[in-house]
Amino acid sequence: MNRVAIVTGASRGIGRGISLELAKKGFDLAINYCTRQDAAEFTSQLCRRQAEENGVAIQTFEVQADIGLDSDRDRLIAQTKDRFGRLDLLVNNAGITSLERSDLLHSTEESFDRVMNVNLKGPFFLTQAAAAWMINDGILHKDRRPKIISIGSISSYTVSVNRGDYCMAKAALRMMTRLYAVRLAEWGIPVYEICPGVIQSDMTAPVKKKYDRLIAEGITPIKRWGLPEDVGAAVARLADDRIEFCTGEVFNVDGGFHIRQL
Ligand SMILES: NC(=O)c1ccc[n+]([C@@H]2O[C@H](COP(=O)([O-])OP(=O)(O)OC[C@H]3O[C@@H](n4cnc5c(N)ncnc54)[C@H](OP(=O)(O)O)[C@@H]3O)[C@@H](O)[C@H]2O)c1
Repeated sequence: MNRVAIVTGASRGIGRGISLELAKKGFDLAINYCTRQDAAEFTSQLCRRQAEENGVAIQTFEVQADIGLDSDRDRLIAQTKDRFGRLDLLVNNAGITSLERSDLLHSTEESFDRVMNVNLKGPFFLTQAAAAWMINDGILHKDRRPKIISIGSISSYTVSVNRGDYCMAKAALRMMTRLYAVRLAEWGIPVYEICPGVIQSDMTAPVKKKYDRLIAEGITPIKRWGLPEDVGAAVARLADDRIEFCTGEVFNVDGGFHIRQL
């Protein structure tokens, strides 16, 4: 019986990269998306092909759910239960940037509410629901080793005054990881954050030129764009192995961006 993962925001970008790497490891996948059904179906196809090429058979299905909405999160969990009946990994990946990149002094309440809903409230309550399921499963199946991984950002500690809401949501997500790490430790459920740097995706496409320049100037010791598969490989490694005596950890996948230099 395959292990099962829910990956939120799996239709494109980093979420697709994560799903592809988990497919290689033989995870059955609930591919969540918000609006782009076509992209989610394509991710599903790619994952099944990827698994086949790696000699494993997996099942995937696409679930539409806006993770900022209570009823949609419930449906995501319920449909995954119906389809697979177990949960070994939740990846809180779905996220949006500020509705407009505008100066902090002019940022809007609309953007604040949307960003907080999708990037913070969604992962918080989805983790709560997933944890309840994992705890119950763990009582019946002692051999299962479920995990929760959230995708943070260098914006959790790097100021961008044109998207303050995004930075604040990611800073709070880091605390969320620590909170759940403590609360879920007694059931043996580790909770991790992967902290990506500048990654090529639709989210960063509008600022590609700026980041091209910053990377060329050496903003990261490893002078290249990060790719969705870089993040995916880190998630898959954590999901597949067990790092005993380790929870609440942040794993930077950022080309060394976080290292201060003099
Ligand atoms: N790109 C970077 O440089 C970077 C760096 C650090 C951290 N991150 C984080 O990595 C995660 C993925 O970013 P990305 O660059 O891959 O973004 P992206 O290319 O814009 O893709 C966003 C994904 O999230 C989904 N999504 C958006 N709103 C959603 C909602 N309300 N409910 C469910 N799914 C939703 C989208 O689904 P649809 O296709 O249906 O719209 C899509 O699959 C985010 O949490 C982001 O903050 C990104």
